[in-house]
Amino acid sequence: MLVTSRSYAEYEAMFDLTELPGSVLDCCAGGASFTAEAAARGVDAVAVDPAYELPAPDLVDTVRRSLPATSGIVDEHADSFVWTWYGTPARKDELRIEAADRFLQDVAVAPERYVPGSLPELPFSDGRFELVLCSHLLFTWADKYDRDWHLAALRELVRVSRSEVRVFPLVQQGAGEPVDYLPELLGELTDVTAEIRQVPYEFQVNADKMLVLSR
Ligand SMILES: C[S@@+](CC[C@H](N)C(=O)[O-])C[C@H]1O[C@@H](n2cnc3c(N)ncnc32)[C@H](O)[C@@H]1O
Repeated sequence: MLVTSRSYAEYEAMFDLTELPGSVLDCCAGGASFTAEAAARGVDAVAVDPAYELPAPDLVDTVRRSLPATSGIVDEHADSFVWTWYGTPARKDELRIEAADRFLQDVAVAPERYVPGSLPELPFSDGRFELVLCSHLLFTWADKYDRDWHLAALRELVRVSRSEVRVFPLVQQGAGEPVDYLPELLGELTDVTAEIRQVPYEFQVNADKMLVLSR
């Protein structure tokens, strides 16, 4: 399983973030540095991921091994990626290595921010976070998780949010095929407003939109 390490700059662009609210959950945070950076800005930031159950040396190893593995996926599907946002592969690698370092440093000094847990059942109370972010799990791994899992996962993200859930991207990993049942799922989320919004980030071709669920 890939435990990738996106940077704060990538999160800002993928989720079109301007200001952060008082509390944010990064669900399926993996080795991303968003939580460390948000906490440094004074936000009550929490990361959740099943990988946090691993003993520390195994987590370090998994995060480090995922760095070249992600580049392998991009190389295999070169035609499905554009470099307008990153500029060059070297810049992307640099951002990811810095993010992994920042994440590993923060887990060591503030382990309470990194909670082991899995969708569709998160270990948080209803409405615990103002904003909930989900990067590269839902839709990305539609080959691994089915339609019912996605519906349960979206409902759980909404349950722990007080104001908004943002999910990016809305296509599958690799070649970036759309997920056919996405419109149908949104129709089943009757207690929230669902909007698909353009973002200032594109890496997989046509993956330049996020899902916003608001209360
Ligand atoms: C591709 S990584 C994305 C990590 C980070 N959000 C980023 O953008 O770099 C996907 C993450 O989802 C986590 N994951 C897998 N199954 C999960 C589940 N059922 N609930 C929550 N996280 C899960 C994996 O451990 C992995 O860290």
